[in-house]
Amino acid sequence: MTSVRDLDSPAVTIDLDIMEANIKRLQEQMNHLGIANRPHIKTHKIPALGKLQMQAGAVGITCQKLGEVEVFADAGVADDVLLTFNILGWPKTERLMALTRRLKRLAVVFDNEVVARGLSEAARKAGVDVRFLIECDTGFGRNGVQTPEAAFDLARLAMKLPNMVFEGLMTFPNKEPTAGFFTRALELFKGAGINVPVVSGGGTPATMTLKDFPMLTEHRAGTYLYNDAMMVHSKAATWAQCAMRVRATVVSRPTDNRAILDAGTKVLTSDQYYVQGFGHVIEYPEATVPGLSEEHGTIDLTQCKEKPAVGDVVHVVPNHCCVVSNMVDQVYGVRGGKVETTWKVAARGLVT
Ligand SMILES: Cc1ncc(COP(=O)(O)O)c(C=O)c1O
Repeated sequence: MTSVRDLDSPAVTIDLDIMEANIKRLQEQMNHLGIANRPHIKTHKIPALGKLQMQAGAVGITCQKLGEVEVFADAGVADDVLLTFNILGWPKTERLMALTRRLKRLAVVFDNEVVARGLSEAARKAGVDVRFLIECDTGFGRNGVQTPEAAFDLARLAMKLPNMVFEGLMTFPNKEPTAGFFTRALELFKGAGINVPVVSGGGTPATMTLKDFPMLTEHRAGTYLYNDAMMVHSKAATWAQCAMRVRATVVSRPTDNRAILDAGTKVLTSDQYYVQGFGHVIEYPEATVPGLSEEHGTIDLTQCKEKPAVGDVVHVVPNHCCVVSNMVDQVYGVRGGKVETTWKVAARGLVT
């Protein structure tokens, strides 16, 4: 077995003990709350990891892209898939219909009539039924109908279209207004005698407040598998629960307080969101990562008593693990200083 020390850098490693503990902890939490676990595989894009999540007790998986559904269907990861994206245009609707035939259950979300009509038309031609959830904007300000009334109206409109089967409501992420939004929407559906079998929430930080949303039947977390600096800053994880690290080499020490790594935006990515800097250096926790260029990572060592030398290797927890997955062909599963497994990131780059 290869020693981790022999991995060339930069390389993306996954601490298997930590990742396995993350899978187990979330599944146990969901079991305890009685909410179905439908992990989002965009975090890892690796079928073998989807299988681990399924073996742990997930009811199915969530995908963001048709290409992810195709790769995971080919690998036989799950026969119950939720695709959380508005699918628009015939190249995509045709692929969706082909997948609908292959999987036991493939549900899709949408938030507008144009998408609903396109799906219905494609489904009618293909002779299949499309199961759908209405995407609701319950405070995030991204996709989603804006009011419970709009969710009700769009669902009723789409239910009347040929080959369309209403299955429920979906949001991302669960925010404080989510409970009120869904409570009101569920009242409307109940009043009209319409069954709402699925109420789907999402987000890793949102796993901390799941008990405030008793109407959820399922939850979609993705990042929890690896965790990252964003999760630590939002208190959804500790550094010790971060499984993904970018292994990088100090290639230059231009000044006493500056080190340069061989990992820049093409591995760590530019994602910052609400985190300062571009990652957390495990060996030098007082260091900051104030800047990246494509292939260089700049480390500020001002606060560090000990400082690395040229040639030293460090491990950086990225700000956002999901985008790092999309940057590399393979990631290394490591345990006890050994490379136990190498996974191809099979759905890497599949953005359609
Ligand atoms: C629609 C949807 N559901 C679930 C998730 C998973 O959220 P997280 O990565 O915080 O676990 C995401 C993440 O982007 C998402 O966009």
